[in-house]
Amino acid sequence: MKSFATRTALTSNTGVEDLIPDFDAKLISFAGGLPDPKLFPKKELALSSQRVLLDGTENPLQYHNAKGYYPLRKLIATALAQEGAAEDPHHILLTQGAQQGLDLVAKLFLNPHDRIAVEAPTYVGALAAFTAYEPTYLELPMSPDGLDLDLLERALKQTTIKFLYTVPNFQNPTGFVMSLTKRQRLVQLAQNYDFYILEDDPYKHLRYAGADLPSIRSLDHSGHVISLGSFSKILAPGLRLGWLVADDPIYTQIRLLKDGADLESPALIQQIVADYLVNNDFSAHLQQVQADYQQRRDWMLSALETNLPAGWQTSQPNGGFFLWVTGPENVDLNQLLRTEIGPQDHILYVPSTNLYASKNVNNGARLSYAGASHAQIDAGIKVLCDAFRAQKPQCGIPSVATN
Ligand SMILES: Cc1ncc(COP(=O)(O)O)c(C=O)c1O
Repeated sequence: MKSFATRTALTSNTGVEDLIPDFDAKLISFAGGLPDPKLFPKKELALSSQRVLLDGTENPLQYHNAKGYYPLRKLIATALAQEGAAEDPHHILLTQGAQQGLDLVAKLFLNPHDRIAVEAPTYVGALAAFTAYEPTYLELPMSPDGLDLDLLERALKQTTIKFLYTVPNFQNPTGFVMSLTKRQRLVQLAQNYDFYILEDDPYKHLRYAGADLPSIRSLDHSGHVISLGSFSKILAPGLRLGWLVADDPIYTQIRLLKDGADLESPALIQQIVADYLVNNDFSAHLQQVQADYQQRRDWMLSALETNLPAGWQTSQPNGGFFLWVTGPENVDLNQLLRTEIGPQDHILYVPSTNLYASKNVNNGARLSYAGASHAQIDAGIKVLCDAFRAQKPQCGIPSVATN
């Protein structure tokens, strides 16, 4: 144990390991952001695998290179252009999920104690990836229209940051969407104060209402934005396939780091996904996926409306997988989960404690509705809300502002 690197002292308690527990038939999990397996296009992917393996001419079982399968990068570039964000496929690199993009970007920029800005709360897996590089965090509280840019600007007048990490659409964990005004102002700040923006956008195609907003990267023409995308939530996470978009010199450096990390993401999977996209109506698939999650969001919101005690709030997301619930000041939802709700009631959620870099906010919870059935949502939310109602505030524990 003594020979472990010092970083393991920081990474041994991230909370990611709690997201997907071992199988338990009685469990109702609102914890992990797991898509509904019924939405995985198994038959279509099986046909694509067969075509790629038996008829393909591009050696899917051979080594290729770290940038990834060019036809798939071109398909992603075409999709981005249709969304108003024209990209050169030579600026797109295929990663093992967006998660690898988080790790590679942190590896590229961070020496121990370098400062980075993160939303508060933020995605637990991003904190797990960044923390391994021992940064100093600047936390920027979230509002329904995005992170606090006044606080960022005040901080930038006194200190520098290497990069700012944001999930602009249906943020994990709050479900909030960054407004266009804030996107534009953030780009301006990055250009003026010369820091990078790491835009992590796995939920943008899961919008149930309202119009899409331009990506942050499409608003910048100065190379200050690195974007991450993923097939996990819209196709299947088991593919472990995502993409990173960046200009040089970042792109080249990331590619070199990926060589060292894993040489390349699996070529077979990349070719299967390219074949799937060419031979199927992906827009129709997306519509089906959106409708399914919208329905689950409605079930959960309606169960919360009936059961949530006075003094508790929930966000009302128009997309994505998550609701953000906050209780009265000083309630400790981390303790509730670990001592009662998890072991006795077999219900899981993600306590806010793990979603703040500071780990000092305990009265919030992320609830995922993506993988639960109507019956599980109704039963689980009822039990959860009864437990919330019985909570006695703990003295001296800082709390999160509700929204
Ligand atoms: C905001 C965010 N970024 C990245 C990831 C990781 O996604 P992937 O499966 O593409 O690695 C997730 C997964 O939940 C996420 O919510």
